[in-house]
Amino acid sequence: MSRDLLAKFAPLIAEREKLKAFQPDPLDVTMEKVLSPTEAIVNGRRTILAGTNNYMAMTFDPDAIAAARAALDRFGTGTTGSRILNGTYALHRRLEETLARFYDRRHAMVFTTGYQANLGIISTLAGRGDYVVIDADSHASIYDACAMGQADVVRFRHNDPEDLAKRLRRLPEDAGKLVVVEGIYSMLGDRAPLRELVAATREFGAQILVDEAHSMGFCGEHGRGIAEELGVDKQVDFIVGTFSKSVGTVGGFCVSDHPYFEVLRFVCRPYMFTASSPPSVVASATVAIDKLARMGEERRALWRKVQRLHAGLKAMGFALGTETVESPIVAVCLPDQDKLFGMSAALLDEGVYVNVARPPATPKGMFLLRCSLGLGHTDEQVDAILEAFARAGRRLGLPVTGTPPCASAASNA
Ligand SMILES: Cc1ncc(COP(=O)(O)O)c(C=O)c1O
Repeated sequence: MSRDLLAKFAPLIAEREKLKAFQPDPLDVTMEKVLSPTEAIVNGRRTILAGTNNYMAMTFDPDAIAAARAALDRFGTGTTGSRILNGTYALHRRLEETLARFYDRRHAMVFTTGYQANLGIISTLAGRGDYVVIDADSHASIYDACAMGQADVVRFRHNDPEDLAKRLRRLPEDAGKLVVVEGIYSMLGDRAPLRELVAATREFGAQILVDEAHSMGFCGEHGRGIAEELGVDKQVDFIVGTFSKSVGTVGGFCVSDHPYFEVLRFVCRPYMFTASSPPSVVASATVAIDKLARMGEERRALWRKVQRLHAGLKAMGFALGTETVESPIVAVCLPDQDKLFGMSAALLDEGVYVNVARPPATPKGMFLLRCSLGLGHTDEQVDAILEAFARAGRRLGLPVTGTPPCASAASNA
């Protein structure tokens, strides 16, 4: 008799059963109603959302919602086809023009998700006979793209330009080489030293792709991301991003000035062999990106809130993913899985939702409570998150020092 194909997951099933002891179950969180970008009803109670990547609070933007409604009425609920068949509407073209303008690039290509953008662009650029050189802490979509693309995969130490140079030096001079990094890393919230990474890439004649999924909207003068903030965006060959965070909807994209870029529409399988994004999604993304381009004070306001959360957690003695504020992602490091799930359940009980992140999704096998703040969070909500951490930490027997620092002290940090 053949082996049951699901039998290999028995250890995971057993672990999942064990984790059900933590109530409310952190891996089975259901938003019964979403009240705003920062609040939802979870397990029947009002809960502050402190882990939803909703950096620019765009999910409830009235203009984005109005555009989505109008598109629903005029174009229907879906395109029922691929971009290269019946799935290109005027709305998709307009979104691509808006993105190209936002990034000041000649070309933009939109995908149904950010995952597919990485899968498609990386696997198509770096194929058999090429090399793809990736940061060891890359997102799953980058790893999956490598598996799909059949290029030789070389990993370099996380955020280490010298290690990148060392590995590029060993590759055949005339081979195609694509370096792939992220602007901000989604788990710890740390930034890439992009100037140095770009310099190493250039020195060895390689091309570079930067995934700005967690930096679009609030990094750089125009909100383009870390490459813009560090003044190297024109030296980056391909920028990939997502609409599922700062843009507040779903979808992905790649922008570039490469003269041959448009050929990708006819060779990139995750673009060609799937239905295009629905009209309502495309319309709301277009409005949101236009608004992000015009923000300024809003970006500064977001950073102030993040300072407040980071300083508050640090003052209470929590170990954080980054020493200083590097992004709106503030990761709290816990010693083991039991503490991770215990804290997450206790926080939910206190009315605060954050992400649980554990191996293999985390770097160095860390157990993280991953908080992400957004423009929608009020100072009062940030303080409520801090107080919930203090109470939950004490319940779990963590060495929480003192009380959450008072708002004004933290906001002056
Ligand atoms: C760095 C990075 N790239 C790509 C993605 C995929 O984005 P999407 O949610 O649009 O599929 C994510 C999602 O979390 C991400 O963190």
